[in-house]
Amino acid sequence: SAAAPPEIRLTVNGAARIVAAPGGRRLSEVLREDLGLTGTKVGCDAGDCGACTVSLDGRQVCACLVPAAQAEGASVLTVEGLAGDPLGRRLQAAFHAHGAAQCGVCTPGMLMAAHDLLSRILLPRAPAPARGDILDALGGVLCRCTGYIKIVEAVESVARGDDALTPPAAGPSVGASLPKLDGLSRLDGSASFGADQAPPDALWLRVVRSPHARAAFSIGDTAGLAARFPGLVLVMTAKDIPGQNSFGVYPDLKDQPVLADGHVRYRGEAVLALVGARAAVDAVTIDDLPLTWTPETPVTGVGAALADGAPVLHAFRPDNVLARGMVECGAPEDALNSAAHVAEGRFETSFVEHAYIEPEAGCAQRKGDRIEIFACTQAPVMDRDEVARVLGLSNDAVRIIPSACGGGFGGKLDVSVQPLIAAASWLLDRPVRAVWSRIESMASSTKRHPAEITARASCGADGRLVSYEMDGDFNTGAYASWGPTVAGRVPVHASGPYRVPNVRNRARAVYTNETPAGAFRGFGVPQAAIAQETLFDTLAIKAGIDRLEFRRINAIHVGDATPSGQVLAASAGLGECLEKLRPHWAAMLADAAAHNRRDTRRRRGVGIGCMWYGIGNTSMSNPSTMRLSLDASGRITFWNGAVDIGQGSTTVLGQIAADALGAPVELLHQVVGDTDLTADAGKTSASRQTFVSGKAAELAGAALRAEILRLTNAGPDAAIRFGGSVLTVEDGGRMASLDLSGLPREPDGSVLQGVGTFDPPTRPLDARGQGVPYATYGFAAQICSLDVDLDLGTVKLHRIVAAHDLGRAINPMLVEGQIHGGIAQGIGLALMEEFIPGRTENLHDYLIPTFGDMPEIEIILVEDPEPLGPSGAKGIGEPALAPTAPAILSAIRDAVGVIPTKVPVLPHRLWELMREREAVR
Ligand code: FES
Ligand code: FES
Repeated sequence: SAAAPPEIRLTVNGAARIVAAPGGRRLSEVLREDLGLTGTKVGCDAGDCGACTVSLDGRQVCACLVPAAQAEGASVLTVEGLAGDPLGRRLQAAFHAHGAAQCGVCTPGMLMAAHDLLSRILLPRAPAPARGDILDALGGVLCRCTGYIKIVEAVESVARGDDALTPPAAGPSVGASLPKLDGLSRLDGSASFGADQAPPDALWLRVVRSPHARAAFSIGDTAGLAARFPGLVLVMTAKDIPGQNSFGVYPDLKDQPVLADGHVRYRGEAVLALVGARAAVDAVTIDDLPLTWTPETPVTGVGAALADGAPVLHAFRPDNVLARGMVECGAPEDALNSAAHVAEGRFETSFVEHAYIEPEAGCAQRKGDRIEIFACTQAPVMDRDEVARVLGLSNDAVRIIPSACGGGFGGKLDVSVQPLIAAASWLLDRPVRAVWSRIESMASSTKRHPAEITARASCGADGRLVSYEMDGDFNTGAYASWGPTVAGRVPVHASGPYRVPNVRNRARAVYTNETPAGAFRGFGVPQAAIAQETLFDTLAIKAGIDRLEFRRINAIHVGDATPSGQVLAASAGLGECLEKLRPHWAAMLADAAAHNRRDTRRRRGVGIGCMWYGIGNTSMSNPSTMRLSLDASGRITFWNGAVDIGQGSTTVLGQIAADALGAPVELLHQVVGDTDLTADAGKTSASRQTFVSGKAAELAGAALRAEILRLTNAGPDAAIRFGGSVLTVEDGGRMASLDLSGLPREPDGSVLQGVGTFDPPTRPLDARGQGVPYATYGFAAQICSLDVDLDLGTVKLHRIVAAHDLGRAINPMLVEGQIHGGIAQGIGLALMEEFIPGRTENLHDYLIPTFGDMPEIEIILVEDPEPLGPSGAKGIGEPALAPTAPAILSAIRDAVGVIPTKVPVLPHRLWELMREREAVR
């Protein structure tokens, strides 16, 4: 057989190219590395995610699976080429208009798959594609953000030919469904993600990870390795770390080493780093390294960690309990005696993988006495401070430049590549880059905490709640990460968005030798909601009250006290959410009854789940500062430190700032996230950016506006015309002007600026968990209908109606996208996602929802304004996910009468529950 030619000729986006293609080189590598076409993304390198989808001679292929040699003579179209193609342009425009790209890392693959379908189907006389055709064509591309709905809508609009764009109306932008202000860069391949940008001379860093979950180890002499592997520049170990070899998000809990120092606590922990030419670092195998291991028995599961005689995993926590949280009010045990109905249960959830499609990646570059890091992150200021400590530098010697972030969900709140590439670049004075493989990402990134929850709830004969008690143990894995946040947040939320006079909720985060668990959309609240909502269904059934009605009579309202003793002053819209769902609920119940009379093999059930979510950090200061400036030419710059991880904060905060200033949003130029240029806007987490940074943006806009009005002697209602170096101000018929070019300039070129800072008012919790943990809460109720196959135990979702009180929808289209994406992750949590440390390795043994798993979704937005929030807004990121799994479990129970207590409810688990139930009949 012919050997692969050293060079191949192919056409890429219409241009003839000649590239070297040694055997084994993938088309994705040729495109990205040789041709610089980084719009084609690599999410797995294994054919699982579809992010690398390109068109090869008119057919979609996964470029990571195509040997480059096979592309000899072929014509390749990538996302960068779509703009040169009429159908490509229409698809890009439709994705933009529909909000079909969130983080955008899957978008190139989606666009190419859609292009493949429509380029065939839009041929003359071809029939319009059915929805099923679209799902089939795009089904090989995974998206973790959107829930797929808006992608399908965008493709359908092009297929139908009704994709002509209507430009957004002029005027205030808050409340308008504007396409994302930074959206186009996600559609043409130009957005630069963590793996997309590095100087040509950057060295590669590869981490060698522990094969053991718990072991002592030693590293012998590595000096000879460089001679054996020419191009290997540095073998970096714990002793090479210039500053403190530890990181962690809590100031007093830096318990995780950057590189393990003689002992590992989980499988996948970083042991050493190889730095050098890529081929050299890739050639080294673990057997080439002088590593000596002494394995120890790992502690698996919280039961083993809490058992008498369990090994101590961290000396400063001899009981293996990392953190505790508690909220207590009334006297739950006494109250229980007076209750008419009691429900109790034990619930278990699994490790859940973030599965963002962009694995962790970045590049660090020493610049004299400073270091600059370009990487994907949710928390640039925290990264800066962590890296400074690891390098032994002051914070201002570190600059973090966030890349486009290909999904986060909490997993990119912890540093990953950053301290490693920073330390190597510092030591070598060379740029150093790292890109985690999917396997490394899954082995080392934090997970959703598995929970073991026992709980007891009671109500009176009238259905009014009397008490709730919960004890939850959360497996935090080998290191703290955000475990204390989970232990603190769960007890506040665990009895749900209801009036419950007697409560005792306790949570513990427990160390084990498993993959560290950390922040994941909801910080433990989704797990707690599964237990609580299931028990409230039981109470409703015992009391003979409809499940929705049971929640309505118990819903918390303005003026009620929470179990933390916080009296809700405003914006508690659960009652309204439930009212709005009522007709849908009745229709779903009627439909299920009719279905079940016809079909005895597939039972239809209807379920409900509610949630509340405190916006921002628990009982902690979490301020955000935003700045707007005008330069002498009249250019408006919005210095926005909030990282957009796909949810749309760049757009939403831009809308708020522009309206507060009184300027058209399209005039705003944004600088996002760069720690040298923007003020601290805190982390993109806890659903806080719209509420906290949004308020700061509103204040910044108002401050700049006030300054302009002051300089022109105009009243508060005056209209300012922006767009040039002379501003015109019209105030009740009086015209004034302000020549910006005549004003003194700041070093950054600005002549006027407005700064806004907002820190939501909270009060610390006392020993009984009493205080004001959050300034405001989001509320939601979701109902769903599904079928259970009695023979197989499989679940098929039909429809979800989601009612969310988010205060105010700044951008309803982006809000819908958040809800769709949250629901998709909730479906995964309920029905399919289970990460097993040491066993789950990549996206073919970890299944996330695909196009075909999504039900029809209807969204109802309830806007009960929060006076503290910008234009009344609260937040939506985490509230979108929390009610979905409880609603699904509720519907499964309604369908087949068994109570799932372990998620995910995999078919074999449900099948066994149904068989057990039959056996006792
Ligand atoms: Fe090719 Fe995931 S990178 S399928
Ligand atoms: Fe699809 Fe983020 S938008 S993965």
